[in-house]
Amino acid sequence: MSAGAAGSAPARYRVQPGGRIAGTLTVPGDKSISHRALMLGAIADGDTHITGFLAGEDCLSTARALAQLGVRIERPRETEVRVHGAGAGGLTAAAAALDMGNAGTAMRLFTGLLAPQKFNSTLVGDASLMRRPMQRVVVPLAMMGAQIRTHDGRPPVEIRGTPHLRAIHYSLPVASAQVKSAVLLAGLYAAGRTRVTEPAPSRDHTERMLGAFGVHLEHEGRSIALDGGQRLKGTAIAVPADFSSAAFFIVAACLAASPSLELTNVGVNPTRTGLIELLRRMGADIRVRPRAAGHSGGAEPVADLEIRPSPLHGITVAEAEVPLSIDEFPVFFVAAACATGETLVRGALELRVKESDRLAAMAQGLSALGVENQLLPDGLWVRGAEGLTGGTIDSRGDHRIAMAFAVAALRASAPIEILDVANVATSFPGFAETARAAGLGVEAL
Ligand code: S3P
Repeated sequence: MSAGAAGSAPARYRVQPGGRIAGTLTVPGDKSISHRALMLGAIADGDTHITGFLAGEDCLSTARALAQLGVRIERPRETEVRVHGAGAGGLTAAAAALDMGNAGTAMRLFTGLLAPQKFNSTLVGDASLMRRPMQRVVVPLAMMGAQIRTHDGRPPVEIRGTPHLRAIHYSLPVASAQVKSAVLLAGLYAAGRTRVTEPAPSRDHTERMLGAFGVHLEHEGRSIALDGGQRLKGTAIAVPADFSSAAFFIVAACLAASPSLELTNVGVNPTRTGLIELLRRMGADIRVRPRAAGHSGGAEPVADLEIRPSPLHGITVAEAEVPLSIDEFPVFFVAAACATGETLVRGALELRVKESDRLAAMAQGLSALGVENQLLPDGLWVRGAEGLTGGTIDSRGDHRIAMAFAVAALRASAPIEILDVANVATSFPGFAETARAAGLGVEAL
C-alpha cells in the first residue's frame, strides 16, 4: 500500500547464515490493540490518547479510513495518537471507497462498525485482502438485519447502512476474534442484548478494551454479551509490544548459541501467548516476568521475557491450542524444523486463509531449505533437521512468512534470500534494523 511512508520498502532480504541473538529489545506496538484503540476512540465521546501505537501500514490504513469517515486524528509522534472521538453517531459518509490495504482485521471490524451507520460504505484492499473470505462476518451481521454485498464472499464489501439492527445470539462456527469483534461492534448499535459464543477462546482485546471505554459486558463461559445503546468514554490506551512480533525473536533466541535475550514490555494476554507453552513443551527456556504495574491502560497484561537457548524436540499440537498461537505458526514451524524429531499440527485450516496460505507457504519454504515435511489439508508435519541449507524463499507477500524465514537463517549453512518482503511494514516497521541489532544477518535490498 501507499506504505511507502518512507518510500523505500525493501523488495527482498538476504540473510547471512548463523549469528548470535542477545541483548535487550522492545518490538513495536501490538497490531490488534492499535486497530481497536483507533476504532473505539473514533466512536467514543471525548478524546482517546494512544501511546505505544503501531505505526505499521495496517494500522495506518485504519487511521486513514477513520479520517475519511470524518474523525479527527492527530499523531504528534510516530507512536502517539490522539483520536478526537466523534461519538456513537458521529461518523460521516466517506467520499470514496475505504482502502484497508493488507489488513484483514481492519476490513472485518469495519464491516461490523459500518453496517449500523446511517450511510453506505465500500471496503476494498490489496490483492491479498481481495482474495480473503468475508462471508464469515456477513452471515451474522445479515442475521442482525445488516445489508452487505460481497463478490462471492470476498471484497469489495459494499455496505448499505442500516441504523436499526437487531441483537442476536450467535455461535461462531470457528474461533475468530475478528468475527466476534465485528458482531460486538455492530451489537453496540443494535436494539437489545447481543451475545456471541465461541467454540474455543480467541484473542479478547475487543472485550477488554470495550471495558476500558466504559462499556459493560457480561461473560459467561465461552459467551460474551453486551446491551446495545451503550456509549463509550474516551480514555488512555498504552499499547504493549506485540507478542506476535516478539515471537520471531523468542524463537531466534531459542535457536541461537547466545547467552540470553530480553524482550521488554510485551503484551502477554493469555489468549495470545500459546507459543510460549508450545515452545516450553519442546524444551525452551522462557521466563516471564510480569511488569510491576501489571496492566497497561486498556486492561492488557504486560511482562518482560527472558529467553535462553536450549535444544528443542518435536511435539504434537492439539487442535484446541491452535487459536492461542494462530499468528505464530510460521515461526513455530521454523522452530520445528530446527528441533529433533517430528512435529505435527492439525486442525489449523484457518492458516490457509491468512495473508497467504501459510501452510502451503511454509511447506514450500521448508522444502527449499532441505527440511522434510508433509503438507496436510489442515496442518503440517515437519521432521526436524540437523541443519538447514541456504535457498530462496517466496514469502508470497506475507509479512510473517518473510520474518519467520529470516529467523531460519540462524541454522542455515548458506544465505537465505527472501522475496516479496515489502509487507513486513504492515506489522513490523524497521524489522531488518531490529533484527540486525539483535544479531541476525538481515540485509534489506
Ligand atoms: C486478529 C484475529 C486473528 C489473527 C489476526 C488478528 C484480530 O484472525 O489471525 O492476525 O486482531 O482480531 P481471526 O479472527 O481470523 O482468527
